[in-house]
Amino acid sequence: MNYEIKDISLADRGKMRIEWARSMMPVLRLIEERFHKEKPLREIRIAACLHITSETANLVKALKEGGANVFLCASNPLSTQDEVAASLVKDYGISVFAIRGEDKKTYYEHIHSVLKIEPQITMDDGADLVSTIHSEKRDFPIIGGTEETTTGVIRLRSMANEGVLRYPIIAVNDANTKHLFDNRYGTGQSTIDGILRATNMLLAGSTFVVCGYGWCGKGIAMRARGMGARVIICEVDPLKALEAVMDGYLVMPLKEASSLGNIFITSTGDKGVIREEHFKEMRNGAIVANAGHFNVEIDLDGLERLSIRKRKIRESVEEFTLKDGRKINLISEGRLVNLSSAEGHPSLVMDMSFANQALSCEYLIKKGGNLERRVYSVPSEIDKKVAKLKLESMGIEIDELTEEQKIYLSSWKIGT
Ligand code: ADE
Repeated sequence: MNYEIKDISLADRGKMRIEWARSMMPVLRLIEERFHKEKPLREIRIAACLHITSETANLVKALKEGGANVFLCASNPLSTQDEVAASLVKDYGISVFAIRGEDKKTYYEHIHSVLKIEPQITMDDGADLVSTIHSEKRDFPIIGGTEETTTGVIRLRSMANEGVLRYPIIAVNDANTKHLFDNRYGTGQSTIDGILRATNMLLAGSTFVVCGYGWCGKGIAMRARGMGARVIICEVDPLKALEAVMDGYLVMPLKEASSLGNIFITSTGDKGVIREEHFKEMRNGAIVANAGHFNVEIDLDGLERLSIRKRKIRESVEEFTLKDGRKINLISEGRLVNLSSAEGHPSLVMDMSFANQALSCEYLIKKGGNLERRVYSVPSEIDKKVAKLKLESMGIEIDELTEEQKIYLSSWKIGT
């Protein structure tokens, strides 16, 4: 078996983490049990480029139970849980290529390693796998792929718009049971978790600046406010900015917020959001972190240019000293803070995201041959099924429409 991980002797710790996560992933468990019986992915080769966490391990296990041969690499150099990677290799026989803290060269070598199986399905989080296949003009036949995150979906849509996308992709991120929960509650909680683990800051009474008011930004702002922070939202989209205003936040340009904030967090999906002009205004001791997929949201070169000194002051914090003596603290090199300084989204929410992944994969195998080379939404039957199973797993019942209500809703003739 091929693999490249940090240390196989970490496997026992990893196995316990995987089992702990499994206990909080009831929907994925049900899918795994059905996959075990029906083998809908029999002999399908899947290359998965995902954050290597205990939740991902449970997704990969479910795919394997379905009959797939899965090769796994990391979708971010700093998010790999090495003990989970070790257990996947030792206890579950999965070929994993990922080491926490790997450099860019190794990161791409690992992507190449999973491509050696000439996958029939690709599973991506950020679209590095798909973009590598396309930029290197790999031409083995591919049934389809799935994409986990907003940034990846944006990249893939632009490939489809340029007419270069070679095979159909299902945008798992766009399922309601994904982004309304994972992005909002998952990123919301785990971003705060990452900031707190890295800094041990008191949020109560602090001024917390969130750049970007998409579903992730909404979740982060909501949780920061819940812990007593004064939250400022910075946006470029008038609609989202208006939403933030009516949700009760202060809204202003980042240039203005820069001199007010104690903590700054980016979650926009774009590059160069916090730049030199902003660092120049920041207060002594400001904390800066990123919750977006790539580490391009904070202009690190700009911060370096302004600084005369830097040192690692805590496990995940670098302190930059500016020429006038002010200090700016950067968490996890500007990489996504929830996975690099904490454990990523909690299992209970990844349960739904990865249920969508597993079911979309099954769908691609059934229907892939009839799909076009574009980005598809998760079929609404899958989305609804995941919501229904999740509610059932929580022991929550809901009402049903009466026959009279169904007729009323389907008729345009009945008014009052
Ligand atoms: N993305 C965000 N949180 C994650 C997690 N816990 N596992 C895998 N991917 C994630």
